[in-house]
Amino acid sequence: MSQDDASLEARLEEQEAFEPPESFVEQANVTDPGIYDEFEENWPECWEHAADLLSWDDEYDTVLEDGNAPFYEWFTGGRLNASYNCLDRHVEDGAGDSTAIEWEGELGETRTYSYAELLDEVGDFAATLRNLGVDEDDVVTLYMPMIPELPIAMLACARIGAPHSVVFAGFSADALATRMNSADSEYLVTCDGYYRRGDALDHISKTNEGLEGVDHEVSDVVVVDRLGDDLKHDLGDNQHDYDELVADHEGSSVEPVSRDAEDMLFLMYTSGTTGQPKGVKHTTGGYLAYTAWTSHAVLDIEADDTYWCSADIGWITGHSYIVYGPMALGTTTVMYEGTPDYPDKDRLWEIVERNEVDIFYTAPTAIRAFMKWGSEYPDQHDLSSLRLLGTVGEPINPRAWKWYYTNIGDEACPIVDTWWQTETGGMMITTLPGVNIMKPGSAGPPLPGIDARVVDAQGEEVEAGQAGYVTVNNPWPGMLRTLYNNDERFINEYWQEYSDEEADKWVYFPEDGAKIDDDGYITILGRVDDVINVSGHRLGTMEIESAVVGVEGVAEAAVVGGEHEVKGEAVYVYAIPEDGYEPTDDLQERVVDGVLDSIGPIAKPEDVIFTPELPKTRSGKIMRRLLEDIASGNDLGNTSTLRNPEVVDDIADQVSSD
Ligand code: PRX
Repeated sequence: MSQDDASLEARLEEQEAFEPPESFVEQANVTDPGIYDEFEENWPECWEHAADLLSWDDEYDTVLEDGNAPFYEWFTGGRLNASYNCLDRHVEDGAGDSTAIEWEGELGETRTYSYAELLDEVGDFAATLRNLGVDEDDVVTLYMPMIPELPIAMLACARIGAPHSVVFAGFSADALATRMNSADSEYLVTCDGYYRRGDALDHISKTNEGLEGVDHEVSDVVVVDRLGDDLKHDLGDNQHDYDELVADHEGSSVEPVSRDAEDMLFLMYTSGTTGQPKGVKHTTGGYLAYTAWTSHAVLDIEADDTYWCSADIGWITGHSYIVYGPMALGTTTVMYEGTPDYPDKDRLWEIVERNEVDIFYTAPTAIRAFMKWGSEYPDQHDLSSLRLLGTVGEPINPRAWKWYYTNIGDEACPIVDTWWQTETGGMMITTLPGVNIMKPGSAGPPLPGIDARVVDAQGEEVEAGQAGYVTVNNPWPGMLRTLYNNDERFINEYWQEYSDEEADKWVYFPEDGAKIDDDGYITILGRVDDVINVSGHRLGTMEIESAVVGVEGVAEAAVVGGEHEVKGEAVYVYAIPEDGYEPTDDLQERVVDGVLDSIGPIAKPEDVIFTPELPKTRSGKIMRRLLEDIASGNDLGNTSTLRNPEVVDDIADQVSSD
């Protein structure tokens, strides 16, 4: 730790609350504390504020249709097009020359798209897709990294009413196949590769391997040539080069298809407690209104801002807060292809300085890495353009919060710690930066119009200071509508725990633990299901377990999250070798490879621990809590209630000797 960091820590250590800086409040989009009461008193009509940020082809008749709860519908009767809202209307309003996307490749090349140029690109690709035979409601899979063709493809899909399903480029071939199979998706847009730490990374071979696992016919695959001569690739029979296809449609304009507010805008797969990922369905009207509203009220975005969310578009954060929300507001959104430490650890701050970024939104795991690297990296750059900072994806510890506040924000930028999920579509629990004080480590109160509570196992609200579970007691426009083709799982996963079906009272259960304080500020404690959060990325332990037991020589496995200084949580695998197999380095490597093949590098185990037995309760349930404690190096307490207490010491010895 540098001298500066140490004195900073000493100065701010005791401070538990921070006022929003005056300079920020003076210009903020939302400053009236009365907004909380106004939304509560006028619920659900308050959500017209969100809908008013959009241009509708046909006005909606009803704000909320709750006759078939929990299959809620929002802005029913309304019609609109998301790509029109993110592009055409800004051009029609005279902002065609404003920058829409400021893109930077890892090697340093840049591409700037004005709103008018982006509209042209989207029009051309929409015509291309249509010419390939993509119809309204066909799901198009986009398996792409952070290159401009990804948001172009998303908006092109939205333009012709074809829902997209973006698969994070870091996911494995198997993960691609699973998602294409689940969505019955017959079209794929991908690329030859991309750059990571200066190296050309082959993506097309992984794509082709994934396609072999698709169990239906894939009509067409469009391949962006990102790497040129750095990676030569051949195209298969139904594969087309992006540029060549688009060249045939240059100058085409495709009228945006008017979509019903409730029509699907996209599908996003996320991990759950079973091995099968969940296809979260988001709609056109409610989702777009909600992301635009939260971009306006929480991220304080204005059209003339330069805004940067450093997430990957392959996750929900990128969908909502790189593409749809910011672009609906006509702002400049920054996209960066690569890693934050290439060529050096000041890369992000160099991008902030050069682009005069006003608003920066990232994950606590990144902040913890910046903190570890030291303040000399941000100190090399002028970050005074920044006005607001945000975090998302996992709990932020107060120390990391304070480091971010001081070293990046220079104590002049509020921080919004935004709690939400793939399923919620947009932010749910966070301070409004022009209204509330900030408490490091605590996300804040629920947003206006959001009835989030912290309850006990019976659904009663807990006292201040007590731990409980987050619930959301009223619907909201950005909510998921169902799980794709699986209404039953939708009800079971999210609504069963706390709802009173007889009384038609529906309560959404996000499966997060939390505490609430006397001011109604909610501190998120983490997932309470078998889902772990690695570097802000959600992974299902069951998915990883099924990859591990798929490895030859493994009889049984348990996967848990253990505490990790930078990643928040890391993956720990406990595995029992099959009879006749030894716990060798080779088996260990094959377990790691099995996880990489089935999910991807984000799920790479921190450690694989072989054991002849897993700790089990007398009824035979694996004691996951105990395995988590071992992985985190916590005190194990009393283990005598186990069926096999002796195994615990053996495992703990192995972990601590690693
Ligand atoms: O546990 C919560 C955590 O991330 C989960 C949602 O993961 P995902 O659907 O992948 O979406 C991540 C980006 C929105 C939540 O159930 N989480 C998200 N934001 C926060 C958080 N935990 C604490 N504080 C947050 N601000």
